[in-house]
Amino acid sequence: MGDKKAMKCHVEVAVLKKNVDLQKIQSFVERFVTSGVKLKSNAIIQKPDGLEDCVEFIQFDDNIKYFKSLNETQLVYHFYKINERGAEIEILEQSDSNESNDEVPASNHWLLPSRDFTGLWESLIYEEGLKENILKYVETSLLFSQRKVNPNIISCNRIILLHGPPGTGKTSLCKAVAQKLSIRMSQNFKYTHLVEINSHSLFSKWFSESGKLVMKLFSRIREIVEHPQSLVCVLIDEVESIAYARSSVSGDEPRDALRVVNAVLTQLDQIRKYPNVLILTTSNLTATIDCAFIDRADIKIFIDFPTTRAIYEIYLSAIHELMRVQIIQNQSILVYDSLDNFERIDDISDCTEHELSMKLLKIAEQSIGLSGRTLRKIPFLAHSLLVENDVIVLNDFLNALKLSLQNHLKDTKALSTGTQVNGYL
Ligand SMILES: Nc1ncnc2c1ncn2[C@@H]1O[C@H](COP(=O)(O)OP(=O)(O)OP(=O)(O)O)[C@@H](O)[C@H]1O
Ligand SMILES: [Mg+2]
Repeated sequence: MGDKKAMKCHVEVAVLKKNVDLQKIQSFVERFVTSGVKLKSNAIIQKPDGLEDCVEFIQFDDNIKYFKSLNETQLVYHFYKINERGAEIEILEQSDSNESNDEVPASNHWLLPSRDFTGLWESLIYEEGLKENILKYVETSLLFSQRKVNPNIISCNRIILLHGPPGTGKTSLCKAVAQKLSIRMSQNFKYTHLVEINSHSLFSKWFSESGKLVMKLFSRIREIVEHPQSLVCVLIDEVESIAYARSSVSGDEPRDALRVVNAVLTQLDQIRKYPNVLILTTSNLTATIDCAFIDRADIKIFIDFPTTRAIYEIYLSAIHELMRVQIIQNQSILVYDSLDNFERIDDISDCTEHELSMKLLKIAEQSIGLSGRTLRKIPFLAHSLLVENDVIVLNDFLNALKLSLQNHLKDTKALSTGTQVNGYL
């Protein structure tokens, strides 16, 4: 077998300055992983001892939980510096027939890895493997295009579509994937850009000078794309608005809208031919999306509502965050994967780690069908029920969480049947 190691584990090091002693960091990591501490997936070391002046944090990927020895695991290092600058907003101006100027925010542009997206990847919780599989797919497609694999033999457009119900994290996941790529592929690309095209505002306007405006937007993108050391991720959110603009054409004026759409499609078709472009799209429509552009997508991934496991972990992350800032008293509670080792109990009265975990599991089960966006709001509502308390213990918080969930479900039902309950949300 030679010296081939069985498993790879990515180690991402956020450095604070340019010239750091890589050897010193690597030996720190090796000492750390072989010290016998059991690491969870996505484990993170903040301000590592002795490296405080040069490293902000070190993060391991999922495989770290299977780590046994350095002989069996290859540590793959990625050193990167976080970009502190936020998004640059590209405003397009258009004058209509009444000579008034309309300003349309056409796109947001980040240089990655950006501070805006640190921690985003870890905060998104799906069934095991979903995020990693998307990343592997994207890495493969970029490798194919860099090695110039003949697209007539293996078709690969580097277009990906995430579709599913509202609030399931599609837009966030696209941004997180782009951020991850900028860290993992820094050997191949010196710079990574994320350009978020605001299709909604672009297509909801009836442009009179549509062609020109779109050209302006894309000429900026093309400037970056022509730099071969730059990876350019183009995010088209709510791509169904393209399809919508196409189908709603009737009468004279809307022809302009159609012109915008066609101009965008043509431009996208041109830039996707570049090997350093990746197009990420999202859509809320779960039915088939009738859009010329989407038909070209290589991979279409359905992002569903979170499973019980994901819900449990989303609530748990909120609880840990509130413990970190000392709003809830520190108390231990199990991660989902450890629950299997215990027997289920339904009559919960005491406050042991096991019983608290079972209580959270029940709340998670009752939350099935809610989106990630809603789940992230429930802990906030729960706390508002407890603001009077000076000290919040976990058991009280879980009771409040349950109550907030019930209120939310009641209100949603009332909204859908048209009855007013108590104006909770
Ligand atoms: N599976 C998840 N795990 C953790 N957080 C989630 C998850 N799904 C959604 N969220 C949270 O919900 C919020 C909304 O996510 P986002 O806007 O990316 O969803 P979306 O699918 O693009 O929604 P829409 O379809 O309305 O555009 C984000 O703050 C995100 O952190
Ligand atoms: Mg979205």
